[in-house]
Amino acid sequence: MGKYEAVFQKSIEDPEGFWAEAAEGIDWYTKWDTVLDRSNPPRYRWFRGGELNTCYNAVDRHVENGRGDQAAIIYDSPVTDTVAEISYRELQQQVAVFAGALRNQGVQKGDTVIIYMPMIPEALVSMLACARLGAVHSVVFGGFAANELAIRIDHAQPKAIVIASGAIEGKKTLAYKPLVDSAIEQSSHKPEKCIVLQRDFVPAELTEERDISWQEAVAGAEPVDCVPVQATDPLYILYTSGTTGMPKGVMRDNGGHAVALNWTMKNIYNVEPGDVYWAASDVGWVVGHSYIVYGPLLYGCTTIVYEGKPIGTPDAGAFWRVINQHRVKVMFTAPTAFRAIRKEDPEGVLLKQNDLSCFQSLFLAGERLDPDTYHWARKMLNVPVIDHWWQTETAWAIVGNPMGIEQFPVKPGSPTKPMPGYDVRILDDEGNELGPNQEGNIVVKLPLPPGTLATLWRNEERFISSYMSAFPGYYETSDGGYIDEDGYVFVMGRIDDVINIAGHRLSTGAMEEVVATHPHVAECAVFGTDDQLKGQKPLGLVVLKAGVECDEEDLKVELVQMVRSQIGAIACYRETAVVSRLPKTRSGKILRGTMRSIATGKEYRMPSTIDDPTILEEITEDLKKMGYPELS
Ligand code: COA
Ligand code: AMP
Repeated sequence: MGKYEAVFQKSIEDPEGFWAEAAEGIDWYTKWDTVLDRSNPPRYRWFRGGELNTCYNAVDRHVENGRGDQAAIIYDSPVTDTVAEISYRELQQQVAVFAGALRNQGVQKGDTVIIYMPMIPEALVSMLACARLGAVHSVVFGGFAANELAIRIDHAQPKAIVIASGAIEGKKTLAYKPLVDSAIEQSSHKPEKCIVLQRDFVPAELTEERDISWQEAVAGAEPVDCVPVQATDPLYILYTSGTTGMPKGVMRDNGGHAVALNWTMKNIYNVEPGDVYWAASDVGWVVGHSYIVYGPLLYGCTTIVYEGKPIGTPDAGAFWRVINQHRVKVMFTAPTAFRAIRKEDPEGVLLKQNDLSCFQSLFLAGERLDPDTYHWARKMLNVPVIDHWWQTETAWAIVGNPMGIEQFPVKPGSPTKPMPGYDVRILDDEGNELGPNQEGNIVVKLPLPPGTLATLWRNEERFISSYMSAFPGYYETSDGGYIDEDGYVFVMGRIDDVINIAGHRLSTGAMEEVVATHPHVAECAVFGTDDQLKGQKPLGLVVLKAGVECDEEDLKVELVQMVRSQIGAIACYRETAVVSRLPKTRSGKILRGTMRSIATGKEYRMPSTIDDPTILEEITEDLKKMGYPELS
């Protein structure tokens, strides 16, 4: 039996034994009573009775164990022309003081705090300070518009909001404060305090009584110590796109999360404490939570906070410069970033100007890694290029190539094999298990391993209905795919209305809700089509209200503006077709999947429930006029 097989089998046959051993990598104030509480399925709880503090494990213990002078964070910001290091000792000091500042503003154990910041060290300091106090953070990606922030404020009900006054996004300077003010105005819940980190290139005007500058808040604060919390207490809420405009608040606990992420650093990424690990993502996404902040810090690595883009800051050599300058051992990013670099520097001229001898492997996730991009990255870098598949819900890889256990030959197009703890199966829509190479619903047999979502914040019902109901006894991933005869998993894409644009997870349902509010629109459908650079992009089809006569071009511009201002520019909503009607089933359900197949040039079966088949010919013609399916 190979090493992976032995490890994997143990994790499935004896999850309690397997994860109790992994839990030795974490410092506990009190050991757990039960490794896995199975008393209330499908809500399994890991390490019940255990007490720990995630911030202590990610920061303080490294100082106590002799890593105080090692860099915890390297801040590399080409957009502000800054490179700075923060040692573990300095990080401990900064986090303890900021935790004191939060406490002075009334934040206590169990309170929620929203963080809305770009890629700056203070974003990590804020997250860790919440963890230190036992408060629950909810980081909102800076690319979301005020309306999206307002939705999250209303749902998370934060005691305080921590923001930066602004950001530089590529070449644009963005002021965050007006956006946050507008969000708070829109929301019914009003946070008591807003702590504003003033950045000198975009100073913010403070609102009296509610706002305090970071600088002032910290000046009057005493450092505070770590507060013990239960393993099952929430560490954070991370909102992610579902199929409607109301995002899902994925709730992560403290104990299982710390154990699992700490374990992945060696077993999946094959790094050692002290190594430099770089996830070029954003703290607003799960990759940022797990692999910019918690994973590398729990394990005593140096993490890089990169405030820049793969191209344009200043050029397509930015990633190679960072790897070389900071001696990065392992990097993690989204395939889109590599497609963007390849487009600008196909021969890797900028890459060859850098010494990448320190570089051990590249990990990619967030969207399907197309074989072309895989081959290009492999050839350019000449190190293993590892695709791995995961979701906000899981916090770490469901399927991957576990470099620290056993390295498998890569099959381009597959993220390789199920990771220990994940019993991955393929089921048909009736719940029957499918054999090798048969495509169906990818599910994971319960219990899920530690670190995966504990529930949806304040919405247990949605947790059950979204993930646990379709196939009782299994977690429904909402991705479709198959497992081949060698046990390699192939992930073919989402089977719901979630799309991936440049590795960002967005909901076409949410865009549809915005488009539908235009006064001229009677009904609409938004679905994902292919995009050569960003993987997918949204396309909207709208039917006008009877009697409406309007300039279609003006309407399209207005719809783009509406989606940008209510969801954000990252939705990349740019294209709309005005059609006379939409294809529907006899019961009135819009056939989005069929339209998606037409727009992407995939074969489709005529749905037996379709109301009027001739409409598909009309839609095909309309889309053809717009250039769909696009020729690659
Ligand atoms: N704050 C505010 N706005 C943001 C933003 C942020 N953090 N991130 C993106 N946006 C805006 C962009 O400015 C752009 O606005 P525009 O339409 O006014 O130009 C829009 O959202 C779309 O952004 P993006 O999809 O990033 O496109 P781009 O053309 O600016 O950049 C890439 C293209 C490929 C360079 C970029 O998408 C990229 O770096 N992708 C990798 C993504 C990644 O790392 N994902 C993490 C998952 S692991
Ligand atoms: P997010 O929750 O933002 O991480 O997005 C999760 C979704 O991204 C998954 O459900 C997949 O559809 C897609 N995804 C992430 N990683 C991969 C991958 N390696 N291969 C294919 N799809 C992926």
